[in-house]
Amino acid sequence: MTLATIGAGNIGKSIGVWAAKSGYDVIFSANNEQHAQDAARAAGGTAKAATVRNAVAAADIVLLAVPYGAAKDVLTDINDLLKGKVLIDASNALTADYSGLTLGFTTSAAEEIAKIVPEAHVVKAFNTVFAQVYASQNPKVNGNTIAVFYAGDDKESKAKVAELIAKMGFDAVDAGALASARTLEPMALLNIALGYGLGHGTSIGFSFNR
Ligand SMILES: NC(=O)c1ccc[n+]([C@@H]2O[C@H](COP(=O)([O-])OP(=O)(O)OC[C@H]3O[C@@H](n4cnc5c(N)ncnc54)[C@H](OP(=O)(O)O)[C@@H]3O)[C@@H](O)[C@H]2O)c1
Repeated sequence: MTLATIGAGNIGKSIGVWAAKSGYDVIFSANNEQHAQDAARAAGGTAKAATVRNAVAAADIVLLAVPYGAAKDVLTDINDLLKGKVLIDASNALTADYSGLTLGFTTSAAEEIAKIVPEAHVVKAFNTVFAQVYASQNPKVNGNTIAVFYAGDDKESKAKVAELIAKMGFDAVDAGALASARTLEPMALLNIALGYGLGHGTSIGFSFNR
């Protein structure tokens, strides 16, 4: 299974490296190809770097890991390549000071992204956990497995994302349809408030007890 990352920063690099360790063939891409190459080197194994277009063309699953403000331009450029592909949206549409979201309640970043690439199967995931957790490759805090929520409208695509989450060792929690991103994105804001504002740091995560 080939995973392409669009973005090789905090999220693209850390999830891509972990996915590679979990058995995925990973192709990193970024604005600056040097950053993608650095991530590929960190992942080792079969991981490689490519342009955004070449990475997406070769992928089964695409992880969108760019700032929300950059998503429209990037996706417009690759719209033709995304038909039928799984597109994981990890973004949070944060205000500049990280104290709020720039959209919500009646829509979400994930739903706005799905409007840009209507033929892709968008799955919201990975947005409620800090990149530092992904970089640590430790899915547990104090023995509790962190929940990674995923939401989308296509059953098969959700199953592929759930498999990735589970292979990384997280508790994959189905949060329903893509519209559930309206609640998952504010959850990320709460995570940021707890981690930074309230001093719990970035080695934290929600768990889901059922
Ligand atoms: N950081 C977290 O803890 C965290 C947690 C959950 C969700 N998120 C969300 O994940 C997303 C990424 O955050 P991040 O912290 O990983 O950001 P980041 O470290 O700033 O990385 C952003 C990446 O996007 C790439 N990029 C920007 N514009 C691009 C374009 N037009 N084409 C291709 N690549 C482009 C950048 O390329 P270059 O490397 O070449 O600059 C960089 O690799 C954001 O939406 C954020 O809200 C972040």
